[in-house]
Amino acid sequence: MVVTNSLASLVLLLSCANALPSRSKGPAPVLPRPTIPYLENPLEGLPVVSRNGTRLPDYTQAYYFNQLIDHDNPSLGTFQQRYYHTYEFYEPGGPIILLTPGEVDASAYTAYLTNLTINGRIAQTLNGSTIVLEHRFFGASNPYNDLSVASFRVHTVQQAIADLVYFAQNVQLPMPGGDQLAPGKAPWILIGGSYAGALTSYTMTSNPGVFTAGYASSAVVEAIVYVSTFEKPNSGRVLLTVTPHLRSDFWGYFEPVRKNMPANCSADVQAVIAYVDSVIASGDTTAIGALKLTFGLPLGHDDDFAAALRLNLFTWQALQPDSGPNQAFYQFCDALEVQNGVSASETGWGLDYALQAWGAYWNSTFYRQICGNYGVETCLGTYDTTSPYSGWTYTGIPNAYRSWQWLVCTEFGFQQDGAPAGQPSIVSRVVTPEWGLRQCTYLFPGAFGDAAFASPNATGINAAYEGWDTTVENIVFASGTRDPWKEATVAAEGSTNPGSDAQPHLLSDGFHCSDMLIQEGAASASIKTVQDTAVSYIAQWISQWTPTA
Ligand SMILES: *[C@@H]1O[C@H](CO)[C@@H](O)[C@H](O)[C@H]1NC(C)=O
Ligand SMILES: *[C@@H]1O[C@H](CO)[C@@H](O)[C@H](O)[C@H]1NC(C)=O
Ligand SMILES: *[C@@H]1O[C@H](CO)[C@@H](O)[C@H](O)[C@H]1NC(C)=O
Ligand SMILES: *[C@@H]1O[C@H](CO)[C@@H](O)[C@H](O)[C@H]1NC(C)=O
Ligand SMILES: *[C@@H]1O[C@H](CO)[C@@H](O)[C@H](O)[C@H]1NC(C)=O
Ligand SMILES: *[C@@H]1O[C@H](CO)[C@@H](O)[C@H](O)[C@H]1NC(C)=O
Repeated sequence: MVVTNSLASLVLLLSCANALPSRSKGPAPVLPRPTIPYLENPLEGLPVVSRNGTRLPDYTQAYYFNQLIDHDNPSLGTFQQRYYHTYEFYEPGGPIILLTPGEVDASAYTAYLTNLTINGRIAQTLNGSTIVLEHRFFGASNPYNDLSVASFRVHTVQQAIADLVYFAQNVQLPMPGGDQLAPGKAPWILIGGSYAGALTSYTMTSNPGVFTAGYASSAVVEAIVYVSTFEKPNSGRVLLTVTPHLRSDFWGYFEPVRKNMPANCSADVQAVIAYVDSVIASGDTTAIGALKLTFGLPLGHDDDFAAALRLNLFTWQALQPDSGPNQAFYQFCDALEVQNGVSASETGWGLDYALQAWGAYWNSTFYRQICGNYGVETCLGTYDTTSPYSGWTYTGIPNAYRSWQWLVCTEFGFQQDGAPAGQPSIVSRVVTPEWGLRQCTYLFPGAFGDAAFASPNATGINAAYEGWDTTVENIVFASGTRDPWKEATVAAEGSTNPGSDAQPHLLSDGFHCSDMLIQEGAASASIKTVQDTAVSYIAQWISQWTPTA
Protein backbone atom coordinates (compact mmCIF):
# COMPACT_ATOMS: atom_id res chain seq x y z
CA MET A 1 0.00 0.00 0.00
CA VAL A 2 1.40 3.35 -1.00
CA VAL A 3 0.01 6.81 -1.43
CA THR A 4 -2.56 6.72 -4.20
CA ASN A 5 -1.19 7.89 -7.51
CA SER A 6 -4.09 10.22 -8.05
CA LEU A 7 -3.43 11.95 -4.77
CA ALA A 8 0.25 12.22 -5.55
CA SER A 9 -0.57 13.79 -8.90
CA LEU A 10 -2.99 16.23 -7.33
CA VAL A 11 -0.24 17.32 -4.98
CA LEU A 12 2.06 17.68 -7.98
CA LEU A 13 -0.54 19.63 -9.89
CA LEU A 14 -0.74 22.05 -7.00
CA SER A 15 3.07 22.09 -6.95
CA CYS A 16 3.02 22.30 -3.20
CA ALA A 17 4.13 19.53 -0.92
CA ASN A 18 1.61 20.38 1.75
CA ALA A 19 -1.57 20.46 -0.29
CA LEU A 20 -3.38 17.34 0.75
CA PRO A 21 -1.09 14.81 2.39
CA SER A 22 -2.44 11.34 2.76
CA ARG A 23 -2.13 9.01 5.70
CA SER A 24 0.88 7.65 3.81
CA LYS A 25 -0.04 3.98 4.25
CA GLY A 26 -3.69 4.58 3.46
CA PRO A 27 -5.60 6.54 0.88
CA ALA A 28 -7.47 9.01 3.06
CA PRO A 29 -6.57 12.63 2.40
CA VAL A 30 -6.30 14.45 5.67
CA LEU A 31 -5.44 17.78 7.22
CA PRO A 32 -2.79 19.90 5.50
CA ARG A 33 0.24 20.46 7.67
CA PRO A 34 1.65 23.88 8.41
CA THR A 35 4.78 23.55 6.27
CA ILE A 36 7.02 25.83 4.27
CA PRO A 37 6.25 25.86 0.54
CA TYR A 38 7.95 23.31 -1.62
CA LEU A 39 10.06 25.01 -4.27
CA GLU A 40 11.74 23.19 -7.08
CA ASN A 41 15.46 23.89 -7.15
CA PRO A 42 16.29 24.80 -10.75
CA LEU A 43 19.90 25.41 -9.68
CA GLU A 44 20.20 21.75 -8.72
CA GLY A 45 22.79 20.04 -10.91
CA LEU A 46 24.47 23.31 -11.87
CA PRO A 47 27.98 23.82 -10.49
CA VAL A 48 28.02 25.65 -7.17
CA VAL A 49 30.86 28.13 -7.06
CA SER A 50 32.17 30.15 -4.12
CA ARG A 51 32.81 33.87 -4.25
CA ASN A 52 36.47 33.29 -5.16
CA GLY A 53 35.63 30.81 -7.91
CA THR A 54 36.22 27.54 -6.07
CA ARG A 55 33.92 24.70 -7.13
CA LEU A 56 31.82 23.60 -4.10
CA PRO A 57 29.79 20.45 -3.45
CA ASP A 58 26.30 20.32 -4.99
CA TYR A 59 23.34 21.59 -2.98
CA THR A 60 22.07 18.00 -2.82
CA GLN A 61 25.13 16.74 -0.95
CA ALA A 62 23.82 15.41 2.39
CA TYR A 63 25.82 15.74 5.60
CA TYR A 64 25.14 14.10 8.95
CA PHE A 65 25.45 15.48 12.46
CA ASN A 66 25.66 13.34 15.60
CA GLN A 67 22.64 14.64 17.46
CA LEU A 68 21.66 13.66 21.00
CA ILE A 69 18.71 11.25 21.05
CA ASP A 70 17.48 12.72 24.32
CA HIS A 71 18.71 16.11 25.49
CA ASP A 72 17.50 15.28 29.00
CA ASN A 73 19.59 12.11 29.04
CA PRO A 74 22.71 12.39 26.84
CA SER A 75 23.85 8.92 27.93
CA LEU A 76 21.31 7.45 25.49
CA GLY A 77 23.72 8.42 22.72
CA THR A 78 23.27 10.01 19.33
CA PHE A 79 21.51 9.60 15.99
CA GLN A 80 22.42 10.91 12.55
CA GLN A 81 20.63 14.16 11.82
CA ARG A 82 20.78 15.02 8.11
CA TYR A 83 21.60 18.46 6.83
CA TYR A 84 22.41 20.35 3.64
CA HIS A 85 24.86 23.19 3.43
CA THR A 86 26.60 25.60 1.10
CA TYR A 87 29.03 28.48 1.45
CA GLU A 88 28.75 29.87 -2.04
CA PHE A 89 28.19 33.41 -0.73
CA TYR A 90 30.34 33.11 2.41
CA GLU A 91 33.12 35.52 3.30
CA PRO A 92 34.95 35.29 6.64
CA GLY A 93 32.94 37.14 9.32
CA GLY A 94 29.63 36.40 7.61
CA PRO A 95 26.65 34.84 9.42
CA ILE A 96 25.65 31.17 9.52
CA ILE A 97 22.02 30.94 8.39
CA LEU A 98 20.20 27.90 9.73
CA LEU A 99 16.83 26.83 8.35
CA THR A 100 14.68 24.45 10.29
CA PRO A 101 12.41 23.19 7.53
CA GLY A 102 9.90 21.70 9.95
CA GLU A 103 7.83 18.61 9.34
CA VAL A 104 9.12 17.61 5.90
CA ASP A 105 11.72 15.41 4.26
CA ALA A 106 14.49 18.00 3.93
CA SER A 107 15.99 16.48 0.78
CA ALA A 108 13.21 18.16 -1.24
CA TYR A 109 13.98 21.59 0.23
CA THR A 110 17.52 22.33 -0.94
CA ALA A 111 16.18 25.40 -2.76
CA TYR A 112 16.26 26.97 0.71
CA LEU A 113 20.06 26.96 0.46
CA THR A 114 19.86 29.24 -2.56
CA ASN A 115 19.04 32.84 -3.36
CA LEU A 116 15.62 31.72 -4.66
CA THR A 117 14.58 32.04 -1.01
CA ILE A 118 14.87 34.63 1.72
CA ASN A 119 17.62 32.47 3.27
CA GLY A 120 19.90 32.78 0.25
CA ARG A 121 18.96 36.42 -0.21
CA ILE A 122 20.20 37.10 3.31
CA ALA A 123 23.35 35.03 2.69
CA GLN A 124 24.07 36.87 -0.54
CA THR A 125 23.56 40.24 1.13
CA LEU A 126 25.53 39.50 4.31
CA ASN A 127 28.23 37.09 3.03
CA GLY A 128 26.59 34.19 4.88
CA SER A 129 26.55 30.43 4.63
CA THR A 130 23.23 28.52 4.49
CA ILE A 131 22.16 25.29 6.17
CA VAL A 132 18.95 23.21 6.04
CA LEU A 133 18.80 20.93 9.10
CA GLU A 134 16.18 18.18 8.96
CA HIS A 135 13.80 17.94 11.92
CA ARG A 136 14.00 14.82 14.08
CA PHE A 137 11.54 12.08 13.07
CA PHE A 138 11.29 13.37 9.49
CA GLY A 139 13.01 12.17 6.33
CA ALA A 140 16.28 10.42 7.16
CA SER A 141 16.68 11.94 10.64
CA ASN A 142 15.30 9.35 13.00
CA PRO A 143 16.42 8.80 16.59
CA TYR A 144 14.93 5.29 16.45
CA ASN A 145 14.11 2.99 13.57
CA ASP A 146 10.34 3.33 13.81
CA LEU A 147 7.61 5.86 14.53
CA SER A 148 6.08 4.02 17.46
CA VAL A 149 4.61 5.63 20.56
CA ALA A 150 7.66 4.39 22.48
CA SER A 151 10.05 6.10 20.05
CA PHE A 152 7.98 9.28 20.13
CA ARG A 153 8.89 9.73 23.80
CA VAL A 154 11.67 11.94 22.43
CA HIS A 155 9.48 13.56 19.74
CA THR A 156 8.62 16.80 21.48
CA VAL A 157 8.89 20.47 20.64
CA GLN A 158 11.34 20.79 23.52
CA GLN A 159 13.69 18.19 22.00
CA ALA A 160 13.42 19.85 18.57
CA ILE A 161 14.41 23.19 20.09
CA ALA A 162 17.35 21.60 21.87
CA ASP A 163 18.43 20.02 18.55
CA LEU A 164 18.80 23.46 16.96
CA VAL A 165 20.82 24.83 19.86
CA TYR A 166 23.06 21.75 20.20
CA PHE A 167 23.66 21.69 16.44
CA ALA A 168 24.70 25.35 16.34
CA GLN A 169 27.00 24.89 19.32
CA ASN A 170 28.66 21.67 18.18
CA VAL A 171 28.60 21.26 14.42
CA GLN A 172 31.87 21.43 12.51
CA LEU A 173 30.70 22.75 9.21
CA PRO A 174 32.21 21.22 6.06
CA MET A 175 33.87 24.47 4.97
CA PRO A 176 37.21 26.14 5.57
CA GLY A 177 37.45 27.08 9.25
CA GLY A 178 34.15 25.27 9.81
CA ASP A 179 35.14 24.28 13.34
CA GLN A 180 35.53 27.92 14.37
CA LEU A 181 31.99 29.10 13.65
CA ALA A 182 29.99 28.30 16.78
CA PRO A 183 27.71 31.03 18.18
CA GLY A 184 30.00 33.47 19.96
CA LYS A 185 32.60 33.08 17.21
CA ALA A 186 30.20 33.76 14.35
CA PRO A 187 26.73 35.29 14.27
CA TRP A 188 23.93 32.75 13.66
CA ILE A 189 20.56 33.45 12.08
CA LEU A 190 17.65 31.07 12.60
CA ILE A 191 14.92 30.85 9.95
CA GLY A 192 11.70 28.87 9.79
CA GLY A 193 8.25 29.07 8.28
CA SER A 194 4.94 27.78 9.55
CA TYR A 195 5.44 25.18 12.35
CA ALA A 196 9.18 25.75 11.91
CA GLY A 197 8.54 29.48 12.22
CA ALA A 198 7.03 28.77 15.63
CA LEU A 199 10.08 26.66 16.41
CA THR A 200 12.26 29.63 15.47
CA SER A 201 10.40 31.89 17.89
CA TYR A 202 10.33 29.24 20.64
CA THR A 203 14.05 28.52 20.27
CA MET A 204 15.05 32.17 20.49
CA THR A 205 12.57 32.81 23.32
CA SER A 206 13.85 29.93 25.44
CA ASN A 207 17.57 30.13 24.54
CA PRO A 208 18.63 33.77 24.49
CA GLY A 209 22.10 34.49 23.16
CA VAL A 210 22.49 31.58 20.73
CA PHE A 211 20.98 33.13 17.61
CA THR A 212 21.74 36.75 16.82
CA ALA A 213 18.74 37.19 14.53
CA GLY A 214 15.68 35.27 13.42
CA TYR A 215 13.14 35.22 10.63
CA ALA A 216 9.80 33.53 11.32
CA SER A 217 7.38 33.35 8.41
CA SER A 218 3.69 32.51 8.93
CA ALA A 219 4.85 31.27 12.30
CA VAL A 220 2.07 29.35 14.07
CA VAL A 221 3.35 30.37 17.48
CA GLU A 222 0.05 30.12 19.33
CA ALA A 223 -1.15 26.59 19.98
CA ILE A 224 -4.89 26.95 19.83
CA VAL A 225 -6.55 26.69 23.20
CA TYR A 226 -9.51 28.98 22.81
CA VAL A 227 -12.99 28.43 21.58
CA SER A 228 -13.37 31.73 19.82
CA THR A 229 -10.96 34.52 19.03
CA PHE A 230 -12.09 36.44 22.06
CA GLU A 231 -11.82 33.78 24.74
CA LYS A 232 -8.13 33.49 25.26
CA PRO A 233 -6.79 32.73 28.72
CA ASN A 234 -3.89 35.16 28.84
CA SER A 235 -5.79 38.05 27.24
CA GLY A 236 -7.70 38.69 30.43
CA ARG A 237 -10.93 37.91 28.61
CA VAL A 238 -13.42 35.30 29.69
CA LEU A 239 -12.31 31.73 29.17
CA LEU A 240 -15.14 29.30 28.61
CA THR A 241 -15.09 26.27 30.81
CA VAL A 242 -14.48 23.54 28.30
CA THR A 243 -13.14 20.03 28.31
CA PRO A 244 -9.46 20.01 27.32
CA HIS A 245 -9.98 18.53 23.86
CA LEU A 246 -12.52 21.21 22.99
CA ARG A 247 -9.86 23.80 23.52
CA SER A 248 -8.26 22.71 20.24
CA ASP A 249 -10.94 24.38 18.17
CA PHE A 250 -9.06 26.08 15.30
CA TRP A 251 -12.01 27.24 13.20
CA GLY A 252 -10.03 30.42 12.55
CA TYR A 253 -8.01 28.47 9.96
CA PHE A 254 -10.85 29.00 7.49
CA GLU A 255 -11.41 32.71 8.20
CA PRO A 256 -8.73 34.06 5.82
CA VAL A 257 -10.12 31.67 3.20
CA ARG A 258 -13.73 32.76 3.72
CA LYS A 259 -12.77 36.43 3.57
CA ASN A 260 -10.36 36.30 0.62
CA MET A 261 -11.83 33.71 -1.75
CA PRO A 262 -14.03 34.96 -4.61
CA ALA A 263 -17.06 36.58 -2.95
CA ASN A 264 -19.60 34.60 -4.99
CA CYS A 265 -17.90 31.32 -4.10
CA SER A 266 -17.70 32.27 -0.41
CA ALA A 267 -21.41 33.17 -0.34
CA ASP A 268 -22.46 29.97 -2.08
CA VAL A 269 -20.23 27.73 0.06
CA GLN A 270 -21.68 29.35 3.19
CA ALA A 271 -25.20 28.75 1.87
CA VAL A 272 -24.51 25.10 1.09
CA ILE A 273 -22.82 24.53 4.45
CA ALA A 274 -25.72 26.11 6.35
CA TYR A 275 -28.04 23.78 4.44
CA VAL A 276 -25.85 20.72 5.12
CA ASP A 277 -25.90 21.56 8.83
CA SER A 278 -29.66 22.02 8.89
CA VAL A 279 -30.27 18.71 7.13
CA ILE A 280 -27.94 16.83 9.46
CA ALA A 281 -29.46 18.56 12.50
CA SER A 282 -32.93 17.50 11.35
CA GLY A 283 -32.02 13.87 11.97
CA ASP A 284 -34.07 12.93 8.89
CA THR A 285 -32.04 9.96 7.68
CA THR A 286 -33.68 9.91 4.25
CA ALA A 287 -32.83 13.55 3.63
CA ILE A 288 -29.31 13.07 5.00
CA GLY A 289 -28.77 10.06 2.73
CA ALA A 290 -30.00 12.00 -0.31
CA LEU A 291 -27.74 14.91 0.55
CA LYS A 292 -24.69 12.65 0.72
CA LEU A 293 -25.59 11.12 -2.64
CA THR A 294 -25.69 14.55 -4.23
CA PHE A 295 -21.91 14.51 -3.69
CA GLY A 296 -21.56 10.80 -4.40
CA LEU A 297 -20.43 10.37 -0.76
CA PRO A 298 -22.58 7.76 1.00
CA LEU A 299 -20.44 7.76 4.15
CA GLY A 300 -21.80 6.04 7.25
CA HIS A 301 -20.82 8.82 9.63
CA ASP A 302 -22.18 12.32 9.17
CA ASP A 303 -19.02 13.96 10.48
CA ASP A 304 -16.87 12.07 7.94
CA PHE A 305 -19.15 13.44 5.22
CA ALA A 306 -18.96 16.96 6.64
CA ALA A 307 -15.17 16.66 6.98
CA ALA A 308 -14.86 15.53 3.34
CA LEU A 309 -16.47 18.77 2.15
CA ARG A 310 -13.61 20.66 3.83
CA LEU A 311 -11.15 19.17 1.38
CA ASN A 312 -12.17 21.64 -1.32
CA LEU A 313 -11.39 24.50 1.05
CA PHE A 314 -8.07 23.02 2.15
CA THR A 315 -6.78 23.37 -1.42
CA TRP A 316 -6.51 27.11 -0.65
CA GLN A 317 -3.31 26.40 1.30
CA ALA A 318 -1.49 25.49 -1.92
CA LEU A 319 -2.03 28.95 -3.40
CA GLN A 320 0.66 31.60 -3.81
CA PRO A 321 0.44 35.06 -5.43
CA ASP A 322 2.04 33.72 -8.60
CA SER A 323 -0.19 30.63 -8.79
CA GLY A 324 -1.76 30.28 -12.21
CA PRO A 325 -5.52 29.84 -12.72
CA ASN A 326 -5.24 26.05 -13.07
CA GLN A 327 -5.25 25.41 -9.31
CA ALA A 328 -7.58 23.04 -7.50
CA PHE A 329 -9.09 25.85 -5.46
CA TYR A 330 -9.95 27.96 -8.50
CA GLN A 331 -11.25 24.90 -10.36
CA PHE A 332 -13.59 24.34 -7.43
CA CYS A 333 -14.91 27.91 -7.43
CA ASP A 334 -15.24 27.90 -11.21
CA ALA A 335 -17.32 24.70 -10.94
CA LEU A 336 -19.68 26.46 -8.53
CA GLU A 337 -19.77 29.92 -10.03
CA VAL A 338 -19.41 29.68 -13.81
CA GLN A 339 -22.61 28.60 -15.53
CA ASN A 340 -22.58 28.40 -19.35
CA GLY A 341 -19.55 30.67 -19.42
CA VAL A 342 -21.13 33.29 -17.15
CA SER A 343 -19.88 34.05 -13.62
CA ALA A 344 -22.26 34.67 -10.76
CA SER A 345 -22.32 38.13 -9.23
CA GLU A 346 -20.72 38.51 -5.83
CA THR A 347 -23.79 37.10 -4.07
CA GLY A 348 -23.41 33.80 -5.94
CA TRP A 349 -26.13 31.70 -7.61
CA GLY A 350 -27.77 30.72 -4.35
CA LEU A 351 -28.26 27.42 -2.57
CA ASP A 352 -30.07 25.35 -5.18
CA TYR A 353 -27.60 25.77 -8.00
CA ALA A 354 -24.54 25.78 -5.74
CA LEU A 355 -25.55 22.54 -4.02
CA GLN A 356 -26.02 20.71 -7.31
CA ALA A 357 -22.85 22.19 -8.80
CA TRP A 358 -20.69 21.33 -5.76
CA GLY A 359 -22.16 17.81 -5.70
CA ALA A 360 -21.52 17.32 -9.41
CA TYR A 361 -17.94 18.57 -9.04
CA TRP A 362 -17.24 15.95 -6.39
CA ASN A 363 -18.97 13.24 -8.35
CA SER A 364 -17.42 14.02 -11.72
CA THR A 365 -13.96 15.27 -10.83
CA PHE A 366 -12.81 15.76 -7.28
CA TYR A 367 -13.55 12.30 -5.87
CA ARG A 368 -11.28 10.66 -8.42
CA GLN A 369 -8.50 13.20 -7.82
CA ILE A 370 -8.62 12.55 -4.09
CA CYS A 371 -9.54 8.89 -3.82
CA GLY A 372 -8.63 7.33 -7.15
CA ASN A 373 -10.35 3.96 -7.32
CA TYR A 374 -10.79 3.54 -3.57
CA GLY A 375 -14.23 3.12 -2.09
CA VAL A 376 -15.73 5.96 -0.14
CA GLU A 377 -15.32 4.49 3.37
CA THR A 378 -11.77 3.37 2.61
CA CYS A 379 -10.85 6.80 1.35
CA LEU A 380 -12.82 9.17 3.54
CA GLY A 381 -14.12 7.14 6.49
CA THR A 382 -12.28 7.50 9.79
CA TYR A 383 -14.07 5.04 12.06
CA ASP A 384 -12.80 1.68 10.83
CA THR A 385 -9.62 1.11 12.80
CA THR A 386 -9.24 -2.40 11.39
CA SER A 387 -9.35 -1.55 7.69
CA PRO A 388 -6.25 -2.98 6.02
CA TYR A 389 -6.00 0.26 4.07
CA SER A 390 -6.25 2.57 7.04
CA GLY A 391 -2.57 2.57 7.96
CA TRP A 392 -3.47 3.88 11.39
CA THR A 393 -0.79 2.03 13.30
CA TYR A 394 1.80 1.59 10.59
CA THR A 395 5.05 2.80 12.16
CA GLY A 396 7.48 2.55 9.23
CA ILE A 397 9.93 5.35 8.45
CA PRO A 398 9.48 7.96 7.07
CA ASN A 399 5.91 9.14 7.44
CA ALA A 400 5.66 12.90 7.75
CA TYR A 401 1.91 12.74 8.32
CA ARG A 402 2.27 10.44 11.30
CA SER A 403 5.20 12.34 12.80
CA TRP A 404 3.34 15.63 12.45
CA GLN A 405 0.12 14.21 13.89
CA TRP A 406 2.04 13.23 17.02
CA LEU A 407 2.86 16.90 17.65
CA VAL A 408 -0.74 17.89 16.85
CA CYS A 409 -2.19 15.25 19.16
CA THR A 410 0.16 15.86 22.07
CA GLU A 411 1.00 19.56 21.86
CA PHE A 412 -0.57 21.84 19.26
CA GLY A 413 -4.21 20.88 18.85
CA PHE A 414 -4.93 22.87 15.66
CA GLN A 415 -8.20 21.09 14.87
CA GLN A 416 -9.45 22.82 11.72
CA ASP A 417 -13.21 22.73 12.08
CA GLY A 418 -16.50 24.57 11.68
CA ALA A 419 -17.01 28.05 13.14
CA PRO A 420 -19.09 28.49 16.31
CA ALA A 421 -22.81 29.10 15.96
CA GLY A 422 -23.54 32.68 15.02
CA GLN A 423 -20.37 33.03 12.91
CA PRO A 424 -20.51 32.60 9.15
CA SER A 425 -18.82 29.34 8.20
CA ILE A 426 -17.51 27.70 5.06
CA VAL A 427 -17.03 24.46 7.01
CA SER A 428 -19.75 22.38 8.56
CA ARG A 429 -20.18 22.71 12.32
CA VAL A 430 -20.63 18.95 12.37
CA VAL A 431 -16.82 18.88 12.11
CA THR A 432 -15.67 19.34 15.69
CA PRO A 433 -12.32 18.96 17.46
CA GLU A 434 -13.43 15.47 18.45
CA TRP A 435 -13.37 14.40 14.81
CA GLY A 436 -9.60 14.75 14.73
CA LEU A 437 -8.72 14.12 18.37
CA ARG A 438 -10.53 10.77 18.24
CA GLN A 439 -8.26 9.75 15.37
CA CYS A 440 -5.24 10.49 17.57
CA THR A 441 -6.23 7.54 19.74
CA TYR A 442 -6.30 5.26 16.67
CA LEU A 443 -2.94 6.49 15.42
CA PHE A 444 -1.21 6.19 18.78
CA PRO A 445 -2.83 3.41 20.79
CA GLY A 446 -2.10 3.64 24.47
CA ALA A 447 -0.64 7.11 24.30
CA PHE A 448 -3.75 8.71 25.77
CA GLY A 449 -4.75 5.98 28.21
CA ASP A 450 -8.39 5.01 27.89
CA ALA A 451 -9.49 8.46 26.75
CA ALA A 452 -11.68 8.64 23.67
CA PHE A 453 -9.87 11.79 22.54
CA ALA A 454 -6.36 13.16 22.79
CA SER A 455 -5.96 16.30 24.91
CA PRO A 456 -3.08 18.25 23.39
CA ASN A 457 -1.16 20.30 25.94
CA ALA A 458 -1.69 23.54 24.05
CA THR A 459 -1.87 25.53 27.27
CA GLY A 460 1.52 24.15 28.27
CA ILE A 461 3.21 25.00 25.00
CA ASN A 462 1.89 28.55 25.06
CA ALA A 463 3.03 28.96 28.65
CA ALA A 464 6.48 27.52 27.96
CA TYR A 465 7.28 29.56 24.82
CA GLU A 466 4.97 32.58 25.18
CA GLY A 467 2.93 31.94 22.00
CA TRP A 468 2.05 35.20 20.23
CA ASP A 469 2.89 37.17 23.38
CA THR A 470 6.62 36.50 23.06
CA THR A 471 8.86 39.45 23.85
CA VAL A 472 11.93 37.94 22.18
CA GLU A 473 14.05 40.47 20.29
CA ASN A 474 15.92 40.50 16.96
CA ILE A 475 13.33 38.38 15.22
CA VAL A 476 11.20 39.35 12.24
CA PHE A 477 7.68 37.92 12.11
CA ALA A 478 6.35 37.94 8.55
CA SER A 479 2.68 37.12 8.00
CA GLY A 480 0.22 37.13 5.09
CA THR A 481 -3.38 38.31 5.10
CA ARG A 482 -4.40 35.38 2.90
CA ASP A 483 -2.57 32.75 4.95
CA PRO A 484 -5.05 30.21 6.38
CA TRP A 485 -2.78 29.74 9.40
CA LYS A 486 -2.78 33.49 10.14
CA GLU A 487 -5.03 33.15 13.21
CA ALA A 488 -2.28 31.16 14.97
CA THR A 489 0.39 33.81 14.23
CA VAL A 490 1.27 37.16 15.79
CA ALA A 491 -0.93 38.72 13.08
CA ALA A 492 -4.05 36.97 14.43
CA GLU A 493 -7.05 39.06 15.40
CA GLY A 494 -6.80 37.55 18.87
CA SER A 495 -3.19 38.62 19.37
CA THR A 496 -2.59 41.85 21.24
CA ASN A 497 1.18 41.90 20.64
CA PRO A 498 1.82 44.94 18.43
CA GLY A 499 5.47 44.16 17.70
CA SER A 500 8.28 46.71 17.88
CA ASP A 501 11.50 47.71 16.19
CA ALA A 502 13.19 44.89 18.07
CA GLN A 503 10.46 42.45 17.03
CA PRO A 504 9.02 43.74 13.76
CA HIS A 505 5.68 42.31 12.67
CA LEU A 506 5.54 42.60 8.89
CA LEU A 507 2.34 41.89 6.99
CA SER A 508 1.90 41.31 3.27
CA ASP A 509 -1.02 40.20 1.13
CA GLY A 510 0.70 36.81 0.87
CA PHE A 511 -0.51 33.28 1.45
CA HIS A 512 1.27 30.67 3.58
CA CYS A 513 4.99 31.56 3.92
CA SER A 514 4.88 33.44 0.60
CA ASP A 515 7.58 35.84 1.79
CA MET A 516 10.13 33.01 2.01
CA LEU A 517 10.16 32.74 -1.78
CA ILE A 518 11.84 35.53 -3.72
CA GLN A 519 9.64 34.85 -6.76
CA GLU A 520 6.56 35.83 -4.73
CA GLY A 521 8.11 39.25 -4.14
CA ALA A 522 8.03 39.66 -7.90
CA ALA A 523 4.30 38.82 -7.88
CA SER A 524 3.32 41.08 -4.97
CA ALA A 525 4.67 44.50 -4.05
CA SER A 526 3.74 44.07 -0.39
CA ILE A 527 5.69 40.78 -0.23
CA LYS A 528 8.70 42.47 -1.79
CA THR A 529 8.47 45.19 0.86
CA VAL A 530 8.37 42.56 3.61
CA GLN A 531 11.44 40.83 2.17
CA ASP A 532 13.43 44.03 1.75
CA THR A 533 12.46 45.32 5.19
CA ALA A 534 13.32 42.01 6.83
CA VAL A 535 16.75 41.87 5.19
CA SER A 536 17.56 45.38 6.39
CA TYR A 537 16.49 44.63 9.99
CA ILE A 538 18.58 41.46 9.99
CA ALA A 539 21.56 43.24 8.43
CA GLN A 540 21.39 45.85 11.18
CA TRP A 541 21.24 43.25 13.98
CA ILE A 542 24.12 41.27 12.47
CA SER A 543 26.22 44.41 12.08
CA GLN A 544 25.86 45.03 15.84
CA TRP A 545 27.09 41.54 16.73
CA THR A 546 30.48 41.18 18.38
CA PRO A 547 32.32 37.96 19.22
CA THR A 548 32.08 36.66 22.79
CA ALA A 549 34.23 33.57 22.36
C1 LIG B 1 38.79 30.35 -1.97
O1 LIG B 1 37.81 29.88 -1.10
C2 LIG B 1 38.03 28.59 -0.61
C3 LIG B 1 36.82 28.22 0.15
O2 LIG B 1 36.36 29.30 0.93
C4 LIG B 1 39.29 28.56 0.22
O3 LIG B 1 39.54 27.27 0.67
C5 LIG B 1 40.45 29.04 -0.60
O4 LIG B 1 41.57 29.17 0.19
C6 LIG B 1 40.11 30.37 -1.24
N1 LIG B 1 41.13 30.71 -2.15
C7 LIG B 1 41.58 31.95 -2.26
C8 LIG B 1 42.64 32.15 -3.28
O5 LIG B 1 41.16 32.86 -1.58
C1 LIG C 1 21.63 33.82 -7.38
O1 LIG C 1 22.73 32.98 -7.24
C2 LIG C 1 23.19 32.43 -8.45
C3 LIG C 1 24.29 31.48 -8.14
O2 LIG C 1 23.84 30.47 -7.30
C4 LIG C 1 23.64 33.54 -9.37
O3 LIG C 1 24.01 32.99 -10.61
C5 LIG C 1 22.52 34.52 -9.57
O4 LIG C 1 22.98 35.63 -10.30
C6 LIG C 1 21.99 35.00 -8.24
N1 LIG C 1 20.78 35.81 -8.45
C7 LIG C 1 20.71 37.07 -8.05
C8 LIG C 1 19.43 37.76 -8.33
O5 LIG C 1 21.62 37.63 -7.48
C1 LIG D 1 31.03 41.04 2.20
O1 LIG D 1 32.31 40.73 1.82
C2 LIG D 1 32.90 41.72 0.99
C3 LIG D 1 34.24 41.20 0.52
O2 LIG D 1 35.00 40.84 1.60
C4 LIG D 1 32.98 43.01 1.76
O3 LIG D 1 33.49 44.02 0.93
C5 LIG D 1 31.62 43.42 2.24
O4 LIG D 1 31.69 44.56 3.07
C6 LIG D 1 30.98 42.29 3.01
N1 LIG D 1 29.63 42.63 3.34
C7 LIG D 1 29.14 42.61 4.57
C8 LIG D 1 27.71 42.99 4.77
O5 LIG D 1 29.84 42.28 5.53
C1 LIG E 1 -22.29 10.34 -9.98
O1 LIG E 1 -21.56 9.74 -11.04
C2 LIG E 1 -21.99 8.45 -11.37
C3 LIG E 1 -21.04 7.85 -12.39
O2 LIG E 1 -20.71 8.80 -13.36
C4 LIG E 1 -23.43 8.49 -11.86
O3 LIG E 1 -23.90 7.20 -12.15
C5 LIG E 1 -24.29 9.09 -10.77
O4 LIG E 1 -25.61 9.27 -11.23
C6 LIG E 1 -23.74 10.43 -10.35
N1 LIG E 1 -24.50 10.90 -9.19
C7 LIG E 1 -24.90 12.15 -9.09
C8 LIG E 1 -25.67 12.47 -7.85
O5 LIG E 1 -24.65 13.01 -9.92
C1 LIG F 1 -17.19 34.71 -9.21
O1 LIG F 1 -16.56 33.44 -9.39
C2 LIG F 1 -15.64 33.37 -10.45
C3 LIG F 1 -15.20 31.93 -10.61
O2 LIG F 1 -14.51 31.45 -9.51
C4 LIG F 1 -14.51 34.31 -10.17
O3 LIG F 1 -13.58 34.28 -11.24
C5 LIG F 1 -15.06 35.71 -10.01
O4 LIG F 1 -14.02 36.57 -9.62
C6 LIG F 1 -16.14 35.75 -8.96
N1 LIG F 1 -16.76 37.06 -8.96
C7 LIG F 1 -17.16 37.69 -7.86
C8 LIG F 1 -17.72 39.04 -8.01
O5 LIG F 1 -17.07 37.18 -6.76
C1 LIG G 1 1.97 20.74 29.73
O1 LIG G 1 3.07 21.55 29.43
C2 LIG G 1 3.60 22.22 30.57
C3 LIG G 1 4.65 23.20 30.10
O2 LIG G 1 5.61 22.56 29.29
C4 LIG G 1 4.14 21.19 31.54
O3 LIG G 1 4.66 21.84 32.68
C5 LIG G 1 3.02 20.25 31.94
O4 LIG G 1 3.55 19.23 32.74
C6 LIG G 1 2.37 19.64 30.71
N1 LIG G 1 1.19 18.90 31.13
C7 LIG G 1 0.98 17.65 30.73
C8 LIG G 1 -0.29 17.04 31.20
O5 LIG G 1 1.77 17.05 30.03
